[in-house]
Amino acid sequence: MIRIIRLATDFWDRESLHEQERIIGRRRDGRWLDGSPSDEQPVFAADPHGKTTPFDAHVRRAAPDRRRPPPMVRRSYNYHQGTEDQGLIFSCFQRDLDKGFEAVQHRLQGEAMTKYTLTVGGGYFFVPPPGDAWLAAAT
Ligand code: HEM
Repeated sequence: MIRIIRLATDFWDRESLHEQERIIGRRRDGRWLDGSPSDEQPVFAADPHGKTTPFDAHVRRAAPDRRRPPPMVRRSYNYHQGTEDQGLIFSCFQRDLDKGFEAVQHRLQGEAMTKYTLTVGGGYFFVPPPGDAWLAAAT
């Protein structure tokens, strides 16, 4: 799945660092908003009122239960076309679109980042599984 997401970078850059971090739900250096290191898994349920990590923060919406992360692999690339048009080429891979991209995208509806983003393109691309002949040759 690929989405081309244009970002209102001038508008975003006018937000304070604190506000940007609350919109994403992580600090710029990768730490979580409760201060824990990036390689630890915060328990959002321990913050039931969204005081530390707001409910509409990107990471809290995308993966609310960190023990059960969304079954997808993400890979994004920045794009720039002149100074006005820039953003992210977001791609993700999953076996099951319902459980992968679509489940996450539904949860992201209404997230705090929405007002800075505009999806301008993309699509679903299906990759057939390797056949027996390919598997035999690869092993
Ligand atoms: C312009 C659009 C987007 C931006 C700027 C953005 C940015 C980020 C950032 C900074 C993180 C935290 C660091 C990381 O784990 O990589 C993140 C995590 C994540 N994003 Fe996005 N993202 C965007 C769009 C999307 C979309 C469209 C989806 C899926 C529908 C998505 C799904 C996720 C997921 C699943 C995580 C991991 C959450 C976690 O493990 O806590 N993102 N994104």
